[in-house]
Amino acid sequence: MATMTMKMPREEKAVSYASRYSLPAEPKDNDTNSNLCSGPVILLSHGDPTGFKPFWRSVGDKCKVTIDSCDFMSYLTDVGTVCWFLEKELEEAIRQLHSTVGNAVTDDRHIVVGTGSTQLYHAALYALTSPGGPEPVNVVSAVPYYSSYPEETNFLCSALYKWAGDAYTFDKEGPYIELVTMPNNPDGQVRGPVVNRNDGKLIHDLAYYWPQYTPITAQADYDIMLFTFSKSMGHAGSRIGWAVVKDKNVAIKMTKYIELNSIGVSRESQHRAAKILGAVSDSSQCIGANFFQYGKSLMAERWTKFREVINRSRLFSLPKYMEEYCQFSGEDSEPHPAFAWLKCNNDIEDLEIFLRRYKIMGRGGSLFGSDPKHVRVSMLGDEETFNLFLERVSSIQDTISNSNGNGI
Ligand SMILES: Cc1ncc(COP(=O)(O)O)c(C=O)c1O
Repeated sequence: MATMTMKMPREEKAVSYASRYSLPAEPKDNDTNSNLCSGPVILLSHGDPTGFKPFWRSVGDKCKVTIDSCDFMSYLTDVGTVCWFLEKELEEAIRQLHSTVGNAVTDDRHIVVGTGSTQLYHAALYALTSPGGPEPVNVVSAVPYYSSYPEETNFLCSALYKWAGDAYTFDKEGPYIELVTMPNNPDGQVRGPVVNRNDGKLIHDLAYYWPQYTPITAQADYDIMLFTFSKSMGHAGSRIGWAVVKDKNVAIKMTKYIELNSIGVSRESQHRAAKILGAVSDSSQCIGANFFQYGKSLMAERWTKFREVINRSRLFSLPKYMEEYCQFSGEDSEPHPAFAWLKCNNDIEDLEIFLRRYKIMGRGGSLFGSDPKHVRVSMLGDEETFNLFLERVSSIQDTISNSNGNGI
């Protein structure tokens, strides 16, 4: 009998996505908070959108897809189009959804599909730069920026582009690329480009420009707009994202990147995404607008509850948002961002480390180019985790105010 040997993984510096934020610091024996530390770890460091699952469960068979063993066998979908691996039904569903929601212009624009919008970000960087430049093009975004941008930009040590940090303080000459995340991850603010020079190119990351998170105030119409199935519908595991691109040559180069990187995008995933996006735009299927109603009331309820807890003491604070008219719902509403950008108001220096002692795993402000008094916590997780989080934050506030008697 052949002996099976198990290869031990090489010791690597890089830390896996799943484990990166999952290990809380061990509570010390004499930790006065040990009663709070006895519960489970509350993992809020990732924006895993499982909170939308009850909706999709309630839909039953309406969005079921059946795939036969002989389906989707070819690499090719339609060689006559710019993005030759984009499923026609997905393209139609994307255009229809944007027209129903009114959040982006897609007429006369090219759609490029990617394995999540993460792959499309790399594709866009590749498309906006050219080999042979004197030095890599600087890539910037205004602080606080999405924490993955620096790592994603630099991890291949590309000669084409490099991360150059905060757009507010960027003062280098020459071409640059600015990432505009709208509404912003982590702080939910709606913002535009800040460098505003002629030699700059823009990538708009509109992952959260959907009615459950923010009022839809206008149809976005930018050169490159990135969207994702993860945050729009909650189906992060399908790994589908799409770019809406004005310039044909940019769309061709983005397609080329994906061709070289993964020879296209899973056709099964595209098929499933098409079914779900199509059903959301189609009111006759009785799930249509309901998804956004559901998503919005879920997010609104969570924000209300969280603010109630936070307002009970002065230990933490949250950003405030203005009401605006949402063209999709036809009413004024406040943003309910996918993340809470929590700030501590007392002498706690590092809020991420502080919360870890209570087994709450958020993502610390420094990773977003900001200060460690901030932590980003996900508002998108499942209900049980979210409720446990509220309880634990309440207990922390009680403990701290009892220990110093002044509510801080
Ligand atoms: C602003 C922003 N852009 C892009 C992504 C990545 O999305 P995807 O799951 O499509 O790769 C995320 C995920 O959290 C995000 O927050």
